Amino acid sequence: METIIADMRDGLDAGLLERAGEIIAAGGLVAFPTETVYGLGANALDENAAAKIYGAKGRPSDNPLIVHIARMEDLYRIAAKVPEKAEALAKAFWPGPLTMIFPKADCVPYTTTGGLPTVAVRMPDHEIALELIKAGGGYIAAPSANTSGRPSPTEAKHVAEDMNGKIEMIIDGGSVGIGVESTIVDMSGETPMILRPGYINQKMLEQVIGPVVMDPALFEAAPNVRPKAPGMKYRHYAPKAEMLIVEGKEKDVISYINDRICRELAEGKMPGIIASEETKDRYAGGIVKSMGSRTDELSISRHLYGVLREFDAQKVSRIYSEAFDTPTIGQAIMNRLVKAAGHQMIHI
Ligand code: TXA
Ligand code: MG
Repeated sequence: METIIADMRDGLDAGLLERAGEIIAAGGLVAFPTETVYGLGANALDENAAAKIYGAKGRPSDNPLIVHIARMEDLYRIAAKVPEKAEALAKAFWPGPLTMIFPKADCVPYTTTGGLPTVAVRMPDHEIALELIKAGGGYIAAPSANTSGRPSPTEAKHVAEDMNGKIEMIIDGGSVGIGVESTIVDMSGETPMILRPGYINQKMLEQVIGPVVMDPALFEAAPNVRPKAPGMKYRHYAPKAEMLIVEGKEKDVISYINDRICRELAEGKMPGIIASEETKDRYAGGIVKSMGSRTDELSISRHLYGVLREFDAQKVSRIYSEAFDTPTIGQAIMNRLVKAAGHQMIHI
């Protein structure tokens, strides 16, 4: 199929949005920007449409999709029970990078929820996404718009790399603002539980609703505790090259990585290094990529997946990464980095 590229980098295009809404309503697939990463959208209430998402991504069918809405009242049609704490979080953070899990209503097909009795819901903070959701009937199921196992797309060109010819339309809204996926909080149990860290961190949630716990599986080095978000168990976000995260004092990290680089270069290999603006000129060779300044967390989160994709294209022998434990999004950034590295991390 021929994929339409709808360029909305300079603003909404009413005609193309109407066309995108028609594609969704007719059971087709449209990729669109959100404030976190690009999503691959289909009508969430149409099981045949939702099934196409799994096909296009090569996604295992037990990995549920997030339903995106544009109006608060629409939540009550797809969630069987909405606790007061969830209403408080929605008021504080929607539209925004927060996904909440509820018992599902009957109208949500099991194809959308990966067979689970619960549904994940989020209202994205992006004008194009919100207009597309409204034009498409109010409920868009959307995982990240990458092929399963590749880094999530943070630019339309990443989506095109993975989805060209497989879906009806890609809406180009330029680079995303956050770059790591939304925080997922399970609201269906006694105490709200974070299943995936994101921009909205534990402290921000607790300021609104009191105690929130983290899924213990998030801290397992060898994941034998089963995560509650099925998607978190897969070796997601994986670059093609092996990757090692080096954590410690700045000068120790640099000298350790330099030592390894020198050895690899001597063997005729070409390693890649994930660095910051502050450190990028202190490496002895290899392909060095800066994620941005450590004083600008959003720059770091925004560049993470793009840098991993660039290293895939450049076929480096191995990737060495500094650790990025920044104050607000650090936990989310490190969660993605550690997964990309298949948990290979050393402390020096
Ligand atoms: O920021 C985001 O959330 C992006 C944009 C497009 O909105 N979407 C996204 O979707 O990251 P995806 O499919 O890549 O990740 C969805 C995650 C998976 O780990 C999945 O297992 C989990 O949400 N999930 C969805 N429904 C769930 C449910 N009912 N119970 C537990 N986990 C659920
Ligand atoms: Mg994903």
